Amino acid sequence: MNKCFTMAALLTVFAVSAAPLPATASPAPLLPYQSPDKTIGTVNCANSMCHGAITNWKDSRVLQNEYVTWSRLDKHTRATAVLNNERSARIAHNLGLKEPASQAAICLDCHAHNVPEQLRGERFVMSDGIACEACHGPAERWVRTHVVAGANHADNIAHGLYPVDQPIARARLCLSCHFGNADKLVTHRLMGAGHPRLSFELETFSMVEPAHFRQKEPDHGEALRWDGVKIWAVGQALAVSQSMSILLDPKRGHDGIFPELVLFDCHACHHPMSETRWKPHSEFGPGQAPGVVRLNDANLLMLLVLARQINHDLGERVRIAAARLQAASAGSGDLASEARQMRDLAETLARGIDELQFTPAMMRGLALGLVDEGLSGDYSDYSGAEQAFMSISSVVDFLNRQKSLAAGAEVGADLNRLALLLRDDEHFKPAEFQAQLRTLRVALARG
Ligand code: HEC
Ligand code: HEC
Ligand code: HEC
Ligand code: HEC
Repeated sequence: MNKCFTMAALLTVFAVSAAPLPATASPAPLLPYQSPDKTIGTVNCANSMCHGAITNWKDSRVLQNEYVTWSRLDKHTRATAVLNNERSARIAHNLGLKEPASQAAICLDCHAHNVPEQLRGERFVMSDGIACEACHGPAERWVRTHVVAGANHADNIAHGLYPVDQPIARARLCLSCHFGNADKLVTHRLMGAGHPRLSFELETFSMVEPAHFRQKEPDHGEALRWDGVKIWAVGQALAVSQSMSILLDPKRGHDGIFPELVLFDCHACHHPMSETRWKPHSEFGPGQAPGVVRLNDANLLMLLVLARQINHDLGERVRIAAARLQAASAGSGDLASEARQMRDLAETLARGIDELQFTPAMMRGLALGLVDEGLSGDYSDYSGAEQAFMSISSVVDFLNRQKSLAAGAEVGADLNRLALLLRDDEHFKPAEFQAQLRTLRVALARG
């Protein structure tokens, strides 16, 4: 599937983007929580002959200690248990929920594998947290087929295994809980009640999650199946698409007379009045206005850098679409129509990126582009800077693993200094962040 990058191949991939969505786009697989199959329960996977070994088995194609890694190291194990803590009780109280958080669908939808009653097998336990089947799909049909001799991945997928190995499918899965979609969302109301702000970048979080699988190790035989930059890029495109879907959704897009504030730049409202800080973002043209709440454009900025790196025209399409979207959200234009166009463009981009292999030169271009966006002052708020930091780190990390970064150690030290500046969102100083980006740029430009 990974075509080697050539300009011709790339232009073919993106030629379709001039037209409406290609009719051949296959429908996205149902997410695990949407599956019509039964969830059989984690205990079925944990047997020591299956995925519950203490150490990995040398001759097996998979590690077989997945359960142990997950249960001992992975925060997903305790995702349901946190609903019993004090913070959750306060959130539930502030929201006026009738039931405790640990029984409320609004919480369980993201903190557990909350499938309908009739799809819970006998050994299903809600308090298992976000367990195997919450990501790999309910196993009713694939549990038997995946262990027969000669079983192959495609057959398992046909029997309901969710394709977590495919970047687009993985992005939709992780984003569904870590970013939100039209079915579930950490709304501004939830944050007002005390829920932490969500911060997410697909590649960073994929690396942070304790690995219970091999593909992350670039020097293993199957090394190149793991393409960190592709995962990052697909994650950005689909985050944009998902935020457009939320904006367009009649029940999600609004809360009372206001639009859903979680889609907007938090610091447009949350900063002291003595600190006058408004300035238009350099990329998005004259439609931006002071005193108007701006859509959170962190992922849009990443997508813009990405599209530009692929080719100039694509970059312009993203820039114009984003500028029109911001203008429409400030009152000049049809917001629904602009959001729909942005969503279609982002989906098309995600599919195109999935077919690409980024060269080291492109990756270096991406890293520099992301830094330059910050030098022009567009990461003026914390969430933009944080998203940019995770993005630059993902790209640089992958370059470094491929041994394509001469000044790797220096770049790493600069990234650590940037991370320190992001430790406290309440006291984030855009100017310091910018100065540190300037130092990083010098090291990166060394090649
Ligand atoms: C759209 C999905 C989503 C919904 C809905 C949601 N959460 Fe969360 N919640 C998350 C994610 C993702 C995190 C982890 C954030 C991180 O660490 O990056 C989290 C973190 C938390 C934390 C902090 C956990 C810790 O380890 O400190 C608490 C407490 C919490 N949620 C409670 C709730 C409660 C109570 C509800 C229901 C009122 C709820 N959540 C609804 C996705 C969601
Ligand atoms: C938060 C989501 C998540 C959870 C929970 C999870 N996995 Fe995974 N799993 C993944 C991802 C992502 C991959 C990597 C797929 C790839 O890159 O090929 C993976 C890979 C695997 C693989 C390797 C597949 C292969 O073909 O190489 C096995 C086996 C596996 N998981 C088993 C389990 C088991 C058993 C559990 C429960 C104990 C579990 N997983 C829980 C997300 C998850
Ligand atoms: C069903 C919802 C759900 C899905 C799907 C999901 N997560 Fe999570 N994830 C959570 C929640 C909730 C937490 C917070 C757990 C806690 O803090 O107790 C979490 C925590 C994490 C953490 C720990 C974050 C921290 O602050 O240390 C990482 C990393 C992570 N998830 C990565 C992923 C990745 C990668 C995927 C996709 C392969 C994924 N998650 C899929 C809900 C989900
Ligand atoms: C349009 C303006 C606006 C935007 C944009 C906005 N908020 Fe708010 N926020 C408010 C208002 C108004 C309140 C209620 C303040 C009060 O009750 O005194 C509030 C309350 C909160 C609270 C509760 C504070 C408290 O005193 O308990 C949190 C947390 C919060 N917002 C976080 C965020 C985050 C994170 C974002 C961005 C994702 C965001 N807000 C975006 C206007 C906004």
